[in-house]
Amino acid sequence: MTAERAPVGARHVAIIMDGNGRWAKKRHLPRAVGHQRGVEAVREVVRAARTMGLEALTLYAFSTENWRRPEEEVSALMGLLKRYIMADLEEFVANNVRLRIIGNYKSLSADIVTLLDDALARTAGNDGTTLAVALNYGSQDEIARAAARAAAEGAITPEAIAAQLDTADLPPLDLLIRTSGEIRLSNFLLWQAAYAELWFTDVLWPDFTPAHLQAALEDFAARERRYGGR
Ligand code: FPP
Repeated sequence: MTAERAPVGARHVAIIMDGNGRWAKKRHLPRAVGHQRGVEAVREVVRAARTMGLEALTLYAFSTENWRRPEEEVSALMGLLKRYIMADLEEFVANNVRLRIIGNYKSLSADIVTLLDDALARTAGNDGTTLAVALNYGSQDEIARAAARAAAEGAITPEAIAAQLDTADLPPLDLLIRTSGEIRLSNFLLWQAAYAELWFTDVLWPDFTPAHLQAALEDFAARERRYGGR
């Protein structure tokens, strides 16, 4: 491990970014403002992941269940995602960040698919931190798709399924963080979390800073992982 790598050993961190709505409500602001501030937190945490030398950061941006939200909120979230990618793409390119999308993003609106495909192509050759954004993502859907592909190739074994998951080209998940005090996985990375460490905080996502990420990584470093052994 070189000096600029994370001093704490985690290679792949995933985050369920929860609490934007409650952050806004506490301030009597529209929910969309909470999501806007959520994007600011995303920007800083992605930068921190890169400077800390994480190999991969996976963010739960939009779940298969989020379609049940009012249309206005769904389109606000899509607009924010679009603006974030447009605004930060050059920064990813300049800093060797590789963008990945997990989930069924091809069914999103055509303008977003085009934007994402361009961003994916422009960063595909980067080998620094991978930023994986989960979009129209549901873990049960991902596992079902992976199992179908494994079956088509002959064997439904854990290894064959793992090789077909959307995250197959990412390092094993080390640490899964959820903000806002909710203690559940909400259909996120269920397979990948089998041996991940879990870290929950009451901090609402817009208030989450690189210092919180650092604290989670320090806790991770202090835990003893046994993978079922002893
Ligand atoms: C949870 O807050 C957050 C989301 C459903 C979406 C997360 C999206 C972003 C931070 C912005 C777009 C993403 C990127 C990668 C640019 P909530 O609305 O469920 O909050 P609540 O539980 O307090 O209502």
